[in-house]
Amino acid sequence: MNSIERLSKLIQESVASWELPNSPENLYDPLRYFLTIGGKRMRPVLTLMGAELFGGKAESAIHAALGVELFHNFTLIHDDIMDEAPLRRSKTTVHTQWNQNIAILSGDVLMVKAYQEICKQEAQHLPELMRVFNKTAIEVCEGQQMDMDFEDRNNVTIEEYVEMIRLKTSVLLGGALEMGAIVSGASLSDRELLYTFGQELGLAFQIKDDYLDLYGDPEKFGKQIGGDVIANKKTLLYLLALENSTEEQLESFRILEKEQNLEAKVKSVRTLFDELNIPAKAQEYMDAHFSKGMDALMQISVSKEQKTDLIDLSNYLMAREN
Ligand code: IPE
Ligand code: IPE
Ligand code: MG
Ligand code: MG
Ligand code: MG
Repeated sequence: MNSIERLSKLIQESVASWELPNSPENLYDPLRYFLTIGGKRMRPVLTLMGAELFGGKAESAIHAALGVELFHNFTLIHDDIMDEAPLRRSKTTVHTQWNQNIAILSGDVLMVKAYQEICKQEAQHLPELMRVFNKTAIEVCEGQQMDMDFEDRNNVTIEEYVEMIRLKTSVLLGGALEMGAIVSGASLSDRELLYTFGQELGLAFQIKDDYLDLYGDPEKFGKQIGGDVIANKKTLLYLLALENSTEEQLESFRILEKEQNLEAKVKSVRTLFDELNIPAKAQEYMDAHFSKGMDALMQISVSKEQKTDLIDLSNYLMAREN
C-alpha cells in the first residue's frame, strides 16, 4: 500500500465511524448521504502528509485533517447551490435531492462540525491552527464571491482569475498542509514554503478542474460536463480563448453567452476552444504553477526522500480524471 492509499484509508475509516443523530432527519440524512458518497479526500491527506513531513505521526493530526475535509464538504454543498449543479461525485447534489433550504442548513452544520473536530487537537496547537484555519475559511468565501461576480463580467483578466482561484481553492490546500506542519512543530520558514507549495499545487489543481469541467469523461468526472460554460464562468479556458480570438470569434462568444439551448452552447464553445488550441495553452499554465510548487517543496529543510509522498500525491492530482 502506498502512502496515498494508507492515509486516505485512515481518513475513510474515521469518516465511516462517525455517528450522526437520526433526528431531525432532514438535517442529518443529507450529511450522511454526502459524507458516504466519497470524494478523493485529498485535503485531509495533505494535512496528514504535512504532519509526517516533519517527523510527526499521521494520527497526531487526524482531527485537523478531518476538520479540513468537513469544511471542504460544507463548501461543496453550498457551491452546488450557487452553481446550480445537478451532480456531484456521480450522485445527485444535496439541494436537488432534498431542497435548497435543507442544503444550506446541513452545509452550515458541517462547518460547525469542522470546528468541533479541529478543537480536539492538543491545546498547545489550537491558537495557531485556528488562526490558519479561520484565515483560510474567510478567504475561500472571498474567492467564491469573486467567482460569482465574474459570471456577470466580461472584462475579467487572467490576473484576476488567478487571484480568484487562489482564494476559492488554493488557500485550502496550503492551509491543510500548514495545519499538519503546525502539529509537528515545523519552523515558520518551512511552514511558509509548504504553504506556497500547496498554493501553487492548488492553482494547478483548479486549472485542471476547469479543464475537466468541459473535457472530462462524464463517466469518470462525476459532475455535469459543461457546467462552467452553462453558468458563463470565467475559467482559464474561457479567458485564454478571448485573449486568442479574432473579432469574429469574439462575436461568436458574445452570442453564445446568451444561447438558450444549453447542449448546443456547450458544444459550440468546445469547438471554438479546440480551434484555438485552448487545452494545450491551459496545460502550460497548469505546468508552470505545478513546477513553482515543486520549487518551494524542494527548499523545505527535510530530506528529498521525506518529500516523496507529497510528490506522488501531486502527480496523482495532475493526472486525475475526476
Ligand atoms: C472540488 O474539489 C472543488 C474544487 C476546488 C475544484 P475535489 O475535486 O477535491 O472534490 P472531491 O472532494 O474529490 O469530491
Ligand atoms: C469550487 O470551485 C471551489 C469551492 C467549492 C470553494 P468549482 O465550482 O469549480 O468546484 P466544482 O467544480 O463545483 O467542484
Ligand atoms: Mg463554484
Ligand atoms: Mg461548482
Ligand atoms: Mg469546477
